[in-house]
Amino acid sequence: MIRSHVMVCGGTGCTSSGSEAIIRELEKNLSKAGISDEVKIVKTGCFGLCALGPIMIVYPEGTFYSMVKVEDVPEIVTEHLLKGRVVTRLVYEETIHGDEIVSLEETGFYKKQKRVALRNCGLINPEDINEYIAFDGYQALAKVLTEMSPDDVIDVMKASGLRGRGGAGFPTGMKWSFAKASVNDQKYVCCNADEGDPGAFMDRSILEGDPHALIEAMCIAGYAIGATKGFVYVRAEYPIAVHRLEIAVGQAKEMGLLGENILDSGFSFDLELRLGAGAFVCGEETALMTSIEGHRGEPRPRPPFPAVKGLFGKPTVLNNVETYANIPQIILKGADWFSSIGTEKSKGTKVFALGGKITNTGLVEVPMGTTLREIVEEIGGGIPGGKKFKSAQTGGPSGGCIPASHMDIEIDYDNLLAIGSMMGSGGLIVMDETTCMVDIAKFFLEFTVDESCGKCTPCRIGTKRLYEMLDKISKGKGTMSDLDKMEELCYHIKENSLCGLGQTAANPVLSTLRFFRDEYIAHVQDKRCPAGVCKDLLSYLIIPEKCRGCTACARVCPTGAISGSVKQVHLIDQAKCIKCGACMEKCRFDAIIKQ
Ligand SMILES: Cc1cc2nc3c(=O)[nH]c(=O)nc-3n(C[C@H](O)[C@H](O)[C@H](O)COP(=O)(O)O)c2cc1C
Ligand code: SF4
Ligand code: SF4
Ligand code: SF4
Ligand code: FES
Repeated sequence: MIRSHVMVCGGTGCTSSGSEAIIRELEKNLSKAGISDEVKIVKTGCFGLCALGPIMIVYPEGTFYSMVKVEDVPEIVTEHLLKGRVVTRLVYEETIHGDEIVSLEETGFYKKQKRVALRNCGLINPEDINEYIAFDGYQALAKVLTEMSPDDVIDVMKASGLRGRGGAGFPTGMKWSFAKASVNDQKYVCCNADEGDPGAFMDRSILEGDPHALIEAMCIAGYAIGATKGFVYVRAEYPIAVHRLEIAVGQAKEMGLLGENILDSGFSFDLELRLGAGAFVCGEETALMTSIEGHRGEPRPRPPFPAVKGLFGKPTVLNNVETYANIPQIILKGADWFSSIGTEKSKGTKVFALGGKITNTGLVEVPMGTTLREIVEEIGGGIPGGKKFKSAQTGGPSGGCIPASHMDIEIDYDNLLAIGSMMGSGGLIVMDETTCMVDIAKFFLEFTVDESCGKCTPCRIGTKRLYEMLDKISKGKGTMSDLDKMEELCYHIKENSLCGLGQTAANPVLSTLRFFRDEYIAHVQDKRCPAGVCKDLLSYLIIPEKCRGCTACARVCPTGAISGSVKQVHLIDQAKCIKCGACMEKCRFDAIIKQ
């Protein structure tokens, strides 16, 4: 009989920090202790706190061990699994309250979260269909096929208020109803698992932790619109996700949950995977379908919309992974349940990849309407090193930067748009006072310039010119009229580009110009970078009164820019200095400053 379950995270984050080796060591030690048949190891998907990986949770107690090393495993087996004594030194410190170890749900990171799309991630073995079924898996599909008409399904989707989680937030039920209304001999259901936004890994985690949820939802979509074939377009750079999806599709087919005559209902639906080569623009829906068709992934004008003329010219529904992950729950628990979560116009939850200058980096799922402050301060645990919050960037390259004065914004589609940002797919990058907003705008523009497919001029040339202007400003060579020209160019690119990439490319520039204009002005007028980031505008200087002449700085300087003998004040030759900062890091007497 199994008395303990040891869940070890097998998500990309924990796998790269060594969770596979932990599993092998666990197997070895359990066998040595003779308890292999009493303790079951489950390799799961992501728990969310990836920065603390490799992560292990022992049930039924729910003890959360973080940063587990292979050397720790024998102790966990002998102490915890054999003698029932928790290895306190490895327990996630937030779960330790005095003498008591509380459950994860009571920690700052999890307390305000609500897991709908991520509900099974970290709870089940994604490579075993039976575990998904044990958590109500494929029940929604069974309900749809036996109790509901396609119109019933679409009505529930509409009533739930679910909007697409891939970026634009289009109502899912409405999209499905358009595709259902298109009459054709063949229709398709597609999943956008391309996830090209820098810093985003929500979709990857769902695919890795709960691939059957996607398969089940796509079958439901197929039934609702009258499609018999689906494609998942997934990044080739997500090998674990691809592997688990392949396993899941194979298992679903074997059990008769995919393929011909599903559950004897007369409905047939088949699914294929297509690997994307990592071009950001292939996430754009028309480019994605062109890529599945075997052509170069370039966007094409809409209308016609995919619901009318999509993949291979047939009516197609395309949704994002997280959008799909919500669907089985909506069918099972009802539209009212789903629409009771969130804000008036943005229902349900949203998964964010929380990153940047924040204590708890990782994956969080919160009800729409949660404030930015709650996410940063409570769930994220605030900014490390006592630094001040400066801005949060949402929506990746299509989004914008939210300043501290808007910390209490309730995050939903419309509120973010109103302040010039975007939900996007859910990247949320926190920045502190050491971040330069001109540099951030430049970073995103560089990404867009690289990723523009080049089909239309405003995007191909406009983003390049915009990047050059930002570069000029960051080097202290900009003028005040450049700021106005830049703004004008932003609107021109926005209004004249063919696809969403160009239409949103200027957002990071516009939002930083709007909220951090003084920082641009400091670069232009004072030739100064207030955050001390733009290299051309700063110098490293030695404060003579503080220098002890220890020579440490001179020894690390890669260009020999520092001179001075032992116990004498040192000096930096500005002409030779490449501003790498190595000397400042090395000086133990705080004698070097950057200004
Ligand atoms: C340049 C560009 C990249 C995009 N990348 C993605 C992506 O990686 N994943 C995604 O789901 N949607 C992406 N989208 C949005 C899709 O085009 C589409 O709106 C979405 O997949 C529809 O699904 P939804 O209604 O469920 O959000 C991108 C859009 C643009 C313009
Ligand atoms: S807007 Fe940019 S990415 Fe989109 S079609 Fe035009 S050039 Fe290509
Ligand atoms: S490391 Fe600091 S104290 Fe030592 S020589 Fe350099 S500036 Fe002076
Ligand atoms: S910043 Fe780098 S190059 Fe410049 S003086 Fe210091 S170590 Fe040398
Ligand atoms: S990958 Fe392990 S917690 Fe995220």
